[in-house]
Amino acid sequence: MALPDEAAQTAKEGATNWLEPFWMPFTANRQFKAHPRLFVAAKDMHYTTQDGRQVLDGTAGLWCVNAGHARPRIVEAVQAQIAELDYAPAFQMGHPKAFELAARLATMAPSDLDHVFFTNSGSESVDTALKIAIAYHRVTGAGARQRLIGRARGYHGVGFGGISVGGIVNNRKFFGSLLNGVDHLPHTHSLEHMAFSRGQPEWGAHLADVLEDMVALHDASTIAAVIVEPLAGSAGALIPPKGYLERLRQICDKHGILLIFDEVITGFGRLGDSFACERFGVIPDIMTVAKGLTSGTVPAGAVFVRKHIYDAFMENAGGENAIELFHGYTYSGHPLAMAAGLAALDVYAEDGLFERAAGLAGHWEDAIHSLKDKPWVIDTRNLGLIGAIELEPRPDAPTARAFELFLRCYEAGVLVRTTGDIIALSPPLIISESQIDQIVETIGQVLDDLA
Ligand SMILES: Cc1ncc(COP(=O)(O)O)c(C=O)c1O
Repeated sequence: MALPDEAAQTAKEGATNWLEPFWMPFTANRQFKAHPRLFVAAKDMHYTTQDGRQVLDGTAGLWCVNAGHARPRIVEAVQAQIAELDYAPAFQMGHPKAFELAARLATMAPSDLDHVFFTNSGSESVDTALKIAIAYHRVTGAGARQRLIGRARGYHGVGFGGISVGGIVNNRKFFGSLLNGVDHLPHTHSLEHMAFSRGQPEWGAHLADVLEDMVALHDASTIAAVIVEPLAGSAGALIPPKGYLERLRQICDKHGILLIFDEVITGFGRLGDSFACERFGVIPDIMTVAKGLTSGTVPAGAVFVRKHIYDAFMENAGGENAIELFHGYTYSGHPLAMAAGLAALDVYAEDGLFERAAGLAGHWEDAIHSLKDKPWVIDTRNLGLIGAIELEPRPDAPTARAFELFLRCYEAGVLVRTTGDIIALSPPLIISESQIDQIVETIGQVLDDLA
C-alpha cells in the first residue's frame, strides 16, 4: 500500500511499513498490517473503503453511530462550535451548552435520574459511576460499603474499575490484581435453556438470586453497588431473561445497594426506547452512557444519578465553596461534544429514530432468526436492533470461524462484528428493511461456504 505524504513525513527513517507505528486497540495488529482494511469516508448507512468500495454498516461503527454517518445537522453543529468556542475550562467554569445538554438528557431519562456528570467515553463513565457509588455511601455515613459486584461476561470498558467489575477473562488476566473487594454474579446466558429465543428468554430470572448469596457472604453493610449491562453487548449480545432485572432491583432495594445500569450500548434508541431501563421498566440509581450520546461523532460519555444521590453530595460537603465531588476530566462537557450531543438528540427526535428502531424490530427479529438452520449456527437471538448469531467454534481454533466470516462479509460489502465465535449486529437506526435483508443474506451466503 502506498505511503500517504503526511505519513511519509512522520514515519521514522527506515520504516518499511507506514502502518507499523500505530498500535491498534483490540486488534490483531499483525494480521491487520498484513491485510489492512481502511475506511476513508462514511455517509448514512455506508462506509467507503480506501479502494473505493461501499460497505454497509451492520454495526453502527462500534455500536455508536445510531443516527447514521455524517448527518448534516451534527456535522454543521460541530463545525460551528469549534469556530465559536473551542474549549472552556471544565473546573470552576462552564459554558451554556453543557448545561443545556444536561437538562435535555435529564428530561429524557426516566424517573428522577435528573443529574448528569459528563465524561469522554464509556470507560470513564463506568469508573465515574463506581467512584460516585462508593463516595455516596461515605458521604451518607455508610463508608464501610465499598464492595462492588459485577457480572461474568460483563463489559464495562477498560479502566481499572471497569475491568475489575467486568467479566471477560482476556480483559482481566494480563493486568494484575485489579480492584480489591469485587465479586461477580453469574452471567445469564445458557444455550441449553434459551437457544434461539426470540426477544427476552423465559429462563434465567432466578440467577439474580445469587445476589442474595453474596449478601449472605459479605453482608450488605459492605456492598456499595451492583453494576450490570441491562443487555450485555460486547460479550455477544446476551439478552436479559424475563424478570431478571426486576429481581436484581428488588434485592438491591432490600439491602440498600445501589444498582448501576451500564447503558453505553443500550442507551439512545438501540432497543427502541430512549434507554433500556425504560424498556424494561427497571430504574437504576446510576446509569452510564456514551457512544450514541453524540452518535459516535465526538468522544463523550455521561453518568446519570438519581436526585437523592446528587442531593447527598450537596448536603454533606460543608460550606458553599467546598467541592462536593473530587472527580472530573479536562474534557468533561467539552464544547464540541456538547454541540454534537445536542444535535444528535435533535436528529433522534426529528427523525423519530427510536420509534423507527422499535418499528423495525419485528423485521429484524425475523431476519436474524432466518439464519437458524445455516451451517455452524448454534444460536440466534435478538432484542430491539441488536442481534447475535453464535457459531460452533472450530475444535482446534476458537474464534477463527467467526473471524473468517467477518473478513468475507467485509469483502462482500457488509460490516459485521465478531466477539469470540459470536456475530454481533447493531446497525444505525436509519437502516431500511432491504438493508437488513442484505446484511442477513450476505451472512447466510458466507455461512453456506464456510468450513
Ligand atoms: C457496556 C459498555 N460499557 C463501557 C464501554 C466502554 O466504552 P468506551 O470504549 O467508550 O470506553 C463499552 C464499550 O463497548 C460498553 O459496551
